Amino acid sequence: MTDTNDSTDSVGDADSGQEEADGTASDGGADSPLDDVLLDDIEDGDADEASQGLFDDLLSGQPIFENKEVLRPSYTPRKLPHREEQINSMATILVSALRGDTPSNILIYGKTGTGKTASAKFVSDELERTSQKYEVPCEVEYINCEVTDTQYRVLAQLANKFIDKNEAAIEADLDRLRSLRERGRTNADALAETEYDSVEAVEDRIEALEADLDSFEDVPMTGWPTDRVYNSFFDAVDYRERVVVIMLDEIDKLVEKSGDDTLYNLSRMNNELENSRVSIMGISNDLKFTDFLDPRVKSSLGEEEIVFPPYDANQLRDILDHRAEVSFKGDALSDDVIPLCAAFAAQEHGDARRALDLLRTAGELAERDQTDEVEEDHVRQAQEKIELDRVVEVVRTLPQQSKLVLFAIILLEKQGVHNINTGEVYNIYKRLCQEIDADVLTQRRVTDLISELDMLGIVNAVVVSKGRYGRTKEISLSVPVEETEAVLLSDSRLGDIEDVQPFVQARFDN
Ligand SMILES: Nc1ncnc2c1ncn2[C@@H]1O[C@H](COP(=O)(O)OP(=O)(O)OP(=O)(O)O)[C@@H](O)[C@H]1O
Ligand SMILES: [Mg+2]
Repeated sequence: MTDTNDSTDSVGDADSGQEEADGTASDGGADSPLDDVLLDDIEDGDADEASQGLFDDLLSGQPIFENKEVLRPSYTPRKLPHREEQINSMATILVSALRGDTPSNILIYGKTGTGKTASAKFVSDELERTSQKYEVPCEVEYINCEVTDTQYRVLAQLANKFIDKNEAAIEADLDRLRSLRERGRTNADALAETEYDSVEAVEDRIEALEADLDSFEDVPMTGWPTDRVYNSFFDAVDYRERVVVIMLDEIDKLVEKSGDDTLYNLSRMNNELENSRVSIMGISNDLKFTDFLDPRVKSSLGEEEIVFPPYDANQLRDILDHRAEVSFKGDALSDDVIPLCAAFAAQEHGDARRALDLLRTAGELAERDQTDEVEEDHVRQAQEKIELDRVVEVVRTLPQQSKLVLFAIILLEKQGVHNINTGEVYNIYKRLCQEIDADVLTQRRVTDLISELDMLGIVNAVVVSKGRYGRTKEISLSVPVEETEAVLLSDSRLGDIEDVQPFVQARFDN
């Protein structure tokens, strides 16, 4: 209370001009309501001062970043060093679309972070821009199959996009025709040099277009039979003459989730389309996914293949140099920062995304330290932080049974048990399952789950020989206990079994 009084006073003093003005107003009014307003005003002023104190330091100096957005994954760079060859290959194939021919289908491969999506988007922007410039009807549709992962959704999304485009084109035509009709009515010459020889002909065309417009029906996101969705898409594409390039990014996710029917249907469309042509560009970081395709789909889709090799440390350095120029303040980076980010990311199979993440995170850590220079040590801390974030994400998305197995291992580690064996894990795992009414898997299955956790780098399981007692696995945790446990307990069902601790303890006392 005294605090409020004090600060009200000080604001009043500092801002006496303001107070006088308010005071005059308050003289004119009755009494308390205006006093309230006055008090509110002063308290607001007080709050303003407090927030200035809170954010001032952080805001005033921004010594590190010029434009952080440039380092985010969502940013599409206008320049892609070391991808000229791949970009030219794509362009050489797709240029047919600008000549009105059907480009070959293309399959793009490469490990994660090798610039596939960025290059494909760059080429697609250029293609559309050029098609507008020369007024050739060519359209590119980009679909991320990680998000749009069923045949229904892919076809529905495509259908609705082309329905929208058709509607927009018809509206534009109608505007033009309606004004032509008006001019034609007052002056017959207006129709000269048009394809219409009478106002009635214009009228007929207008009516036909209006009927078309009425006939379009957006595809709902669920509920129709798939062949109806396909027909909608087919009709929408074929409504006008054009070449359509469909980019299916993360195409392996679509095949994994819902088979190759979509690709089969899309790759056969050209046999039946009358006005338009469709070409497919598939992008994948899983080199093996074509093994699961119908041979006809596989050969059609892979007419042309373009490989994106991993970047080496020098190439990553160039990429980072380019991006850093725009994203960081003049001399915010000490000399060894970019080479170190590049070296770390080169070890991660040449992943440019990782390199950019490292650079951005290092900058953020320096910002938090309130220094004006990013240093080598910030990069090392960033590497640790990103690694921990990765672990958290992997653990968070584990299936429940794996989470239970991992939780059992964590409980044992926390009891100080060394060289944990499968039997010990299994005993605790069973009790945890009972605790939350989950199915109890066989010990054999649990052994498999432990191997999976090993492959994910979460635990380390080595097979050791116990001489004549046979062989067993010795298991230890490869990730930080506290953080991992916290992630597990944030799962609503596992969160309930926190009190199992004493019971685990009791088992060891026995
Ligand atoms: N040659 C390059 N120049 C500049 N930035 C690049 C380059 N290659 C990749 N990047 C950047 O690296 C990040 C990852 O690239 P991109 O998303 O294209 O990878 P990807 O090959 O599609 O990976 P994934 O298989 O995981 O989808 C993006 O932020 C992208 O802008
Ligand atoms: Mg990608």
